[in-house]
Amino acid sequence: MNRGSRIIGYGTALPERVITNHDLAQTLDTSDTWITERTGIKERRIGSTTRALAIEAAQGALDMAGVDAGDLDSVVLATTTPDRVIPATAGSVQTALGASCGAFDLNAACSGFVYGLNVAHGLILAGAEHVLLIGSETLSRFVDWEDRATAVLFGDGAGAVVLSATDGSGNALLGWALDCKGSLEKSLHCDFGGFIYMEGREVFRQAVRIMVDTCERALAAANLTTGDIDLVVPHQANARIIRSACEKLRISEDRTVQVLGWTGNTSSASIPLALADAAGNGRLATDDVVLLVGFGAGMTSASALLRWEL
Ligand code: COA
Repeated sequence: MNRGSRIIGYGTALPERVITNHDLAQTLDTSDTWITERTGIKERRIGSTTRALAIEAAQGALDMAGVDAGDLDSVVLATTTPDRVIPATAGSVQTALGASCGAFDLNAACSGFVYGLNVAHGLILAGAEHVLLIGSETLSRFVDWEDRATAVLFGDGAGAVVLSATDGSGNALLGWALDCKGSLEKSLHCDFGGFIYMEGREVFRQAVRIMVDTCERALAAANLTTGDIDLVVPHQANARIIRSACEKLRISEDRTVQVLGWTGNTSSASIPLALADAAGNGRLATDDVVLLVGFGAGMTSASALLRWEL
């Protein structure tokens, strides 16, 4: 049987508190001009909990999908900032939504949502009907707000999708690639009780390289070329990383979605936030080919080519 999966609903959540670059310049040796030119970020939202943001985004996705939480077969919560070490935040989210199914956290840093998409697809191929996939983060809890090298980059937020089985009507996942270069783990990490540490220039250089590599691998798996892609939804870390990778891939930047100007880098949440923004603003039509591409600490990378069927 031609079983596959497709996205049938999406939702988002952002904390109310806005921190602008000008706000940061009050306490840090930085400026709006520097942050904007080097990153593309103008402001970020911070606050709430990973659980609360996940619940809000998930409920929006379930409502749009018209799926009752009781009909979910699994909740996959991509997060690198769970509310506790034990147990997984996903269980608490599942209970609040009224679901009764498998629930687990998945940590692949900023690639988490695309890793989760591939896992959710696999669950559906194995027999699940509906899988709720959430990316939710409260990175502000792990940022040293006195460190200008990292404080300007990150924000909090969540995005979610409902994936459902398609029996006999094709498969929206056209190709994918997952990777992790564990040897690069020191360049971006956070130890228990500590803050996010990052070698900015090295992460930038590696990010462009692995982003290009993962996209090329997903395209090859799908037997497609960059010319077939209607929209790229990249991880929202830095506008210059997106520009550099697009140049190397020969994809025009106007085919990318960028929300980082007002969200900052929200790790696992950034791709579903950007995807929802594109869909909500009419940038996606049925049958469009969408490339989701994530990269992050680990260093992980992940890409998925989807046929948009909403
Ligand atoms: N405001 C002003 N100056 C700053 C600054 C800030 N917020 N942060 C760093 N600087 C300074 C540095 O101290 C350095 O000063 P120096 O030349 O006197 O030594 C100068 O700006 C240049 O620093 P550099 O690190 O080379 O800048 P950059 O152009 O590489 O930009 C980042 C820094 C962090 C924006 C960039 O490296 C980056 O985005 N890296 C990837 C980060 C990322 O995406 N992480 C998440 C991956 S999922």
